[in-house]
Amino acid sequence: MSILRSFVATDLFRFNNVNLDFFTQTYSNSFYLDYLARWPDLCCAQVSPAGRMMGYIFGKAEGSHSDWHGHITILTVAPEYRRLGLATALVQLLERVSDAVYRGFFVDLYVRCTNDLAIGMYEEMGYSVYRRVREYYHSLGGSRGRDEEDAFDMLDTRCLSSSLFRPWTLIIVLSQIPRMTCLQPNVLSVANP
Ligand SMILES: CC(C)(COP(=O)(O)OP(=O)(O)OC[C@H]1O[C@@H](n2cnc3c(N)ncnc32)[C@H](O)[C@@H]1OP(=O)(O)O)[C@@H](O)C(=O)NCCC(=O)NCCS
Repeated sequence: MSILRSFVATDLFRFNNVNLDFFTQTYSNSFYLDYLARWPDLCCAQVSPAGRMMGYIFGKAEGSHSDWHGHITILTVAPEYRRLGLATALVQLLERVSDAVYRGFFVDLYVRCTNDLAIGMYEEMGYSVYRRVREYYHSLGGSRGRDEEDAFDMLDTRCLSSSLFRPWTLIIVLSQIPRMTCLQPNVLSVANP
């Protein structure tokens, strides 16, 4: 049994059990608080009846015009609560809010290319790899101060029939292009994770 509710600022004091995971990024407090201030309805937590954090999702709404969409920034479930459908419920909630509240045309996310489990899960949920982004995790550590792992940009298939969808043939190197905030059909938004 779990309680699906809004993520609140004080949850930052008790999410360590969830974040002790290689594939889960831990950001600065200001990062989380910015999301909670701007997109509180896209930040949700799964909590046990005893109040233990089981998992959470952070998302945002971004883009412009026909590219306006929801974005999954963080999705993570504590190891002891996995395979119970918690991530599925979190993603479905974000999709509903993105659609009904923000009128997003689709939902997208970035995932490490080595994260086979998450990639498979998103594919089961109807997401497809849109393109590969080289050096996406460049600011998060790694050799020579760089995390050189690439990311897949995945989109939900509601946009398959639109002109936005392209197969992932394009490889983008973040260090070779300026930071952008607005999507064009062939250009990634890379200003924020
Ligand atoms: C990926 C993650 C969020 C999945 O959370 P979860 O609550 O266990 O996922 P669900 O129970 O909703 O599983 C949904 C589907 O994903 C697939 N899946 C999930 N875990 C799986 C596993 N260990 N092996 C195979 N398939 C798996 C299955 O198809 C599953 O559906 P099913 O149980 O009906 O077969 C969780 O493993 C996690 O937090 N990983 C670390 C952080 C991470 O990788 N986040 C995603 C980065 S974008």
